[in-house]
Amino acid sequence: MDTVKSSIDAKSAVRNTQSYESGVVPRRGETVMVAGEGCWMIDSEGQRYLDLTSSQGVAMLGYNHPVLTAAIQEQAALMHACPNFFHNDTRADFLNKLITATPLHLTRAFLGNSGAEAIDGAIKFARLATGRTGIVAFRNSFHGRTVGALSLTWNPRYRRKFEPLLPDVSHVPFNRIDLLDKAVGDGTAAVVLEVIQAEGGVHVGEGDFLEAVQQICRERGAKLVIDEVQTGFGRTGRWFGFQHFDLEPDIIALAKGLGGGFPMGAVVYTDEIQESVFSGAHGSTFGGNPLACAAGAAALSVYQDGLIEQAERAGDRLRAGLETAIGARRVVREIRGKGLLIGIDLRTKAVPFLKTLMETHKVLALPAGSTVLRLLPPLTISDEEIDLAVEAVAASLPA
Ligand SMILES: Cc1ncc(COP(=O)(O)O)c(C=O)c1O
Repeated sequence: MDTVKSSIDAKSAVRNTQSYESGVVPRRGETVMVAGEGCWMIDSEGQRYLDLTSSQGVAMLGYNHPVLTAAIQEQAALMHACPNFFHNDTRADFLNKLITATPLHLTRAFLGNSGAEAIDGAIKFARLATGRTGIVAFRNSFHGRTVGALSLTWNPRYRRKFEPLLPDVSHVPFNRIDLLDKAVGDGTAAVVLEVIQAEGGVHVGEGDFLEAVQQICRERGAKLVIDEVQTGFGRTGRWFGFQHFDLEPDIIALAKGLGGGFPMGAVVYTDEIQESVFSGAHGSTFGGNPLACAAGAAALSVYQDGLIEQAERAGDRLRAGLETAIGARRVVREIRGKGLLIGIDLRTKAVPFLKTLMETHKVLALPAGSTVLRLLPPLTISDEEIDLAVEAVAASLPA
């Protein structure tokens, strides 16, 4: 009886969610997800779905991972809240692991709760460190939907109704050094970019362009902020997406995989930036919550234990499988991405194929822009699951 009641409540919650998602993701009907196991989601009817979304890129270890689950359970039994003005061992352990995982020059971390908050923090720290206000972002970027992050997000559909947003923000075409060169001046606090624009269509930054962004920032005294919310923690086959290139960002924004799916975010930055951060400059009641930190420490230990390398291998297999199965089909314009962040750019709208994938083949994928099918599976995906995914994608697209 209780189960029936909770699934009715959950169904109305699904409808509520859809009313404000307004078509950003394809409607997933009346499906009620109740559990997860490895790379699979399970609905209230017991139907299993191979999840190539990792719940929007967060469940990097899949569902019900024993190390993550045990860490959350143990911490919940110990204490689930502890304000930031007390030292807490779980938080300290997590911070140590996080700073160890990031490149040597990034020594400071501010803990928050989401990707958009991490971007907001990055904007504040860059403004403080430079005494400037301008931000340069890119067309097709996605940085989140708080007022600060939305000011950097490109898609007019997300922005229009909320303008005016932050002043002094400009959007430059991605991969265009000449136009960036004109946009960055002595009022620019930061250039903020994704090395792979994920939600905007899985557009990979060109090495020359990304290195020019860094060069221009250095020459003009602007901070280089890299949004690693979606590309961090092995998603692209490296710890961080920027590590595919010769880059040393001043600030990185993290979330999604940071807590293995548990909500948390972080801004990680240099000692030099810390010099201008005064007491009270930034804060968060929930940031650094011990449950989130226990989840984060567990997730980091699993990434550390060979999962990043495994993600690189899995990404190669998935990419090669897709190229062989569908690369030459007329409907496919291009397959792009890195590691386990893959976009299949179609010559037609992606949403109908996402529906077929889910309804007929019981495989979950995401859109990225209107024509791109985006695959973001958990890093733990097995070879058999990859082969199944390739078969399902191939079967869902016209021959
Ligand atoms: C690159 C990037 N930045 C920021 C965000 C915002 O993260 P959140 O939804 O946790 O606020 C996202 C979310 O998809 C993202 O992909």
